[in-house]
Amino acid sequence: MKPPLVVANWKMHGTRVEAQNLARQIFNGVKDQWNVEVVLAPPFTALATVADELRGSGLRLAAQNVHWKEEGAFTGEISPKMLRETGCTFVLIGHSERRHLFDENDQMVAKKMLALLRADLWPILCVGETLQERKKGMTRRVISRQLTAALKGVSKDAIENINVAYEPVWAIGTGHTATPDQASDAHRWIRDVMNRLFGTTKTMQIRILYGGSVRPENAAELARASEVNGLLVGGASLKAEEFLRIISQFA
Ligand code: PGA
Repeated sequence: MKPPLVVANWKMHGTRVEAQNLARQIFNGVKDQWNVEVVLAPPFTALATVADELRGSGLRLAAQNVHWKEEGAFTGEISPKMLRETGCTFVLIGHSERRHLFDENDQMVAKKMLALLRADLWPILCVGETLQERKKGMTRRVISRQLTAALKGVSKDAIENINVAYEPVWAIGTGHTATPDQASDAHRWIRDVMNRLFGTTKTMQIRILYGGSVRPENAAELARASEVNGLLVGGASLKAEEFLRIISQFA
């Protein structure tokens, strides 16, 4: 199994200078913990600055979004090739804020998935149900739909480069974290679905992260929960000290 993966999603926070300072503090704090893979996802405008800051550090860079075309008349969009050149290794796709605030659908996420794999970038595919869907008992159905759609056309050989983040929409930025049991249940289901699609040997290396109101106070129990192979952290990743405490749960 690959090492646990802990990802900082800074969303639309941070100027270049702020991102540089935060990256430096995290880098300095994380120095001795090489058994965890740490990834920072700053806004597009800070990617190059953070890439410089992380050079030679072992920490990796992620983008928060991508367009599926290589280039063209797509005002405001950024291509996989551009992200690679900037130093990104990972890219988040299908984040619920993209799905719900910017109307991204499963088909768009699927195109992004294939575009990233073609460009040798590692996708972090976010899936998760809304509160209403959970209350109606639709959690598994929603996750299956999102996964099946996003993985359509992915080859068996490419599948091991994928990471999945289970992010229940009701837990993102709300302070309502999933319990370790809820996270484990969903992660187990995600693995089952992928096993059915690609076979157990191919999906063994795929890391499934939990995201949604992860804090230093709840990170330990989430990190210990079965089937949790890492965390995707929003708000708490904006303070180096909090994010470092979260990372240390995997040490
Ligand atoms: P949060 O965000 O940790 O602030 O809930 C997580 C995410 O959206 O990735």
